[in-house]
Amino acid sequence: MPVEHSQPILSVKGVSKRFGGLMAVSEVGFDVAKGEILAIIGPNGAGKTTLFGLISGFIRPDMGSVRLKGHEIVGMAPHKIVRMGLTRSFQIVQVFADMTVLEAVTAAALVRKPMREAVRKAEEVLERIGLSAIRNESPASLSLQDKKMLEVAKCVATDPELILLDEVMAGLTLAEAELPLAIIRDLRDSGITFVMVEHVMPIVMKTADRLLVLNFGQKIADAPPAEILSNQAVRDAYFGEEMPHA
Ligand SMILES: Nc1ncnc2c1ncn2[C@@H]1O[C@H](COP(=O)(O)OP(=O)(O)O)[C@@H](O)[C@H]1O
Ligand SMILES: [Mg+2]
Repeated sequence: MPVEHSQPILSVKGVSKRFGGLMAVSEVGFDVAKGEILAIIGPNGAGKTTLFGLISGFIRPDMGSVRLKGHEIVGMAPHKIVRMGLTRSFQIVQVFADMTVLEAVTAAALVRKPMREAVRKAEEVLERIGLSAIRNESPASLSLQDKKMLEVAKCVATDPELILLDEVMAGLTLAEAELPLAIIRDLRDSGITFVMVEHVMPIVMKTADRLLVLNFGQKIADAPPAEILSNQAVRDAYFGEEMPHA
């Protein structure tokens, strides 16, 4: 019992991915505790999205280990990883033509459930995330904010224990981010663990329990938000870009 309690839900060790001559992700390792909100930050091109691809099975690492609830998942197909409870959103929102919002969320739920239950699950998730009113719209016609929340809905529809969110609040003002943030906190309170890549620093500082900083594919810091602000390596990495503010 105590052993199970202390086991991280996700344990990443020494994962690397090279694209040609570029080390996109270089020997990155970290653990995520159940119920935690971990934010991953870093300049453009730091390897954040690639790291999500490596964890979720879309990109195979050249080296390293990814354990979900103690099970090695490197080499497993993404849909099998989803069935084990890990799902991700995509930074570039994927929308299929000829599908309604409800159908898109149902398709996500179908990875783990038969049709009738999947439809019911999709309806329940849309209600919970506040998208019920647009259930019959085409995803392509939605506002950026609704498209991003649709991505979150598709994740939640797979009954996940761990969700990786890739910049779902990018492009939103702080005020516009209040609603998605409240939804994420509510989902966390219901037991879902989150790893989020996010650029809106005031949101990150307020929401995350811990921040992991990537720069040129390497982990340069992993600490609570307050400590990150005073970290010199982090300040140097952001030199010339917007620097995190409290
Ligand atoms: N499929 C790919 N082929 C070649 N290079 C890639 C590929 N995907 C990402 N990269 C490169 O890897 C680096 C990290 O990219 P990415 O993970 O998207 O960074 P971030 O999400 O932090 O902005 C960038 O230099 C990017 O151009
Ligand atoms: Mg990215």
